[in-house]
Amino acid sequence: MQYGHFDAAAREYIITRPDTPAPWANYLGSPAYGAIISNNAGGYSFVKSGAAGRLIRYRFNEQDRPGRYIYLRDDESGDYWSASWQPVGKDLDQYHSVCRHGTGYTVMEADYKGLRSEASYYVPMNADHEVWRLKITNTGAAGRKISVFGFAEFTCESFYEQDQVNLQYTQFITRTYFKDQFILQTINENCLNAVNESRVDTRFFGLVGVPVTSYCGDRAAFLGGYRDYGNPLSVEKGRLDGTLNYNLNPCGALHSALTLKPGESVSLVFLLGQKRETEAQALITRYEKSALPDQEINDLKTYWHGKLANLKVETPDENFNHMVNTWNAYQCFITFNWSRAASLVYCGQRNGYGYRDTVQDIQGIIHLDPEMALEKLKFMISAQVNHGGALPLVKYSHNPGHEDKPEDASYRTETGHPSYRADDALWLFPTVWKYITETGNIALLDEEIPYADSGKDTLYKHLDKAIDFSLNHLGIHGLPAGLHADWNDCLRLGANGVSVFVAFQLYYAFEIMIRCARHKGDAATETRMNELKKKFGAIIEERCWDTDRFVRGITERDEVVGKPGDPEASLWLNPQSWSIISGFAPRERGKAVMDLVYRQLNTKYGARIMAPSYRRHAFEGALALLFNPSTKENGGIFLQTQGWLILAEALLGRGGRAFEYYLESCPAAQNPIAQTRLQEPYVYSQFTESVDSPFEGRSHVHWLTGTASTVMVGCVEGILGLRPDINGLCLSPAVPASWKSFTMEKTFRGKKLRIQVQNPQGSENGCRKLTVNGVEMKDNYIPASVLKADNEVILEM
Ligand code: GLC
Repeated sequence: MQYGHFDAAAREYIITRPDTPAPWANYLGSPAYGAIISNNAGGYSFVKSGAAGRLIRYRFNEQDRPGRYIYLRDDESGDYWSASWQPVGKDLDQYHSVCRHGTGYTVMEADYKGLRSEASYYVPMNADHEVWRLKITNTGAAGRKISVFGFAEFTCESFYEQDQVNLQYTQFITRTYFKDQFILQTINENCLNAVNESRVDTRFFGLVGVPVTSYCGDRAAFLGGYRDYGNPLSVEKGRLDGTLNYNLNPCGALHSALTLKPGESVSLVFLLGQKRETEAQALITRYEKSALPDQEINDLKTYWHGKLANLKVETPDENFNHMVNTWNAYQCFITFNWSRAASLVYCGQRNGYGYRDTVQDIQGIIHLDPEMALEKLKFMISAQVNHGGALPLVKYSHNPGHEDKPEDASYRTETGHPSYRADDALWLFPTVWKYITETGNIALLDEEIPYADSGKDTLYKHLDKAIDFSLNHLGIHGLPAGLHADWNDCLRLGANGVSVFVAFQLYYAFEIMIRCARHKGDAATETRMNELKKKFGAIIEERCWDTDRFVRGITERDEVVGKPGDPEASLWLNPQSWSIISGFAPRERGKAVMDLVYRQLNTKYGARIMAPSYRRHAFEGALALLFNPSTKENGGIFLQTQGWLILAEALLGRGGRAFEYYLESCPAAQNPIAQTRLQEPYVYSQFTESVDSPFEGRSHVHWLTGTASTVMVGCVEGILGLRPDINGLCLSPAVPASWKSFTMEKTFRGKKLRIQVQNPQGSENGCRKLTVNGVEMKDNYIPASVLKADNEVILEM
């Protein structure tokens, strides 16, 4: 069943059935002022921190309530509804609703009994308030008397958890006031003139464009006894009773009674933010210019569409185009900006950036906005400890040169992270390399960047130390120790147990270091890295290969995890795909392990992270056992791994296979089975339940997941084959044989490339001929030096 469709030109997803199988969300603003909104206006807002700056309430894991509610009422009949289908939830035979999620804004359109409404929700660029703009039109033949009500349920205090659980306290520190056009909420207001002003918070909910007819600042008064958001007594009555809260639960509710002639439209704006009274007043005055919202929404489109325009593909597969051009790309920016801060699942408690998560997220936007990526990349490098390891959690308030580290009890207490993870710093290699090759900015290697704890070094040295960290933490057989965990949170291989995934990451790191050393003319490092590569290559060969596969790890008790014949978890996906990505496995062997993956791990929704799921034979330290079989790390389809799978197949040149995997887990391709998948068809989730589950295909943990960037890299470098190196761009598409032609428009180092790929013979990879502006190249490589401002590139496969 399908609930909506893509509008490629507008870069919107249009939900035409509001009764979606789960709340389908969008992101407004940025973590400076963040707002999450579902297709039924559920969601919440916060200032700076989802956990510590919560402005309006949302009850997680409940019925997507409350939210940014606008109620409409026919003052003659008393009938009322909402501008989003919920919370009132009118009969869908009579109530027609469309929700358009766009880049930084969401619009709800409703038609009901001769009245059309359009509510646009957004946070203006660089602003720390939000706007709900409502246009109402009388589409009938008779004049109408109507009422509009806006409702926002303030938290009693900014700490989300306190607001939810410490009721004997938080309910008694807040008040609301009516100030002509807005409700003002104060928290700890007695501190204003005494003790400590910083404990005071003030918020406001305002109405602009029409007069306020009545108001209310108390949730109980707004809803009435034994009522819900779907049938508030005050809306039913058509008037707010003017109650302001003094203790218990505050809210902002404002009402305007309007008359509309046939065909007449009225526009009004609700504003919400954490502002002092005078600031709120000033904002309200600013919005008296009725053209402002249109302009602000346009600014958002210009900003986002401008970023997304740096790669535009037109392939025979529309779903691929929707994702690569808009939605996967937009999700990459969201994970880049928001990390794992706040969603309808994450409530904001993680007070910082997970090291590996963020360093991977950065990869997702490098092809679109390398300079934006660079800033965060340097920030993350400054969270590397002087000995080369990386802080598992980098606080939002990170202060390079002065941070505690996992060796310090204070770090452990503050972040809850007990020790280093084996993979964190190694993610720098693919990310740094991606940035350098996209931009040609090799000089970055010489830039000095501080360490988290003390001192500073060039980036080149930072990378060298990341390798040192792994070399200083070897376990049995001389392989990299699993430490607290590797990429897989659920693998506790023990301080002396070893991770094969990390071994491949390290092998790849040697290779990147060799390339960097070569460009710097640093022969000593180049030689050393080559020797290390050889040495570790030999250990991997000897210890990590068993019969027909790479194993996943070896515990400190010398138990091999992931070997043939194991009753459970005998085959793991990541070591197979990474054997290819790392450059370790030669082609034929790569093909063989990937064929094994296809036979034993693939399902119709993607390949499982491992199989069979753990039930009875887990080793001590296999935390995945805690999850139900086929769920998350326990044999689920962990979607981030699909990106590596796609990339690995593409590197092998098997375009058909790469694309088959792509489609299996592509959200857009699952649009027709939204009821199975549950989650938004326009964004990736963290994982999909697999064959052991009675709900195979159901997906979870939307939006904030490493899947976005990893699959993006699989598409851009893998399927599309856009593989820059320091001096230019290599074109190596790996596509299904059925793609007879496609185009890519790419901005590369400030220059425009229009690339036409012709594939009349139906190849899955390869290049017969490449021309740039009519000049034939030697092979499939475009030296940056031949590029002009605008370029016509033709690749014949
Ligand atoms: C989650 C974590 C990530 C980890 C992955 C696999 O996505 O955020 O850090 O790598 O799970 O366990």
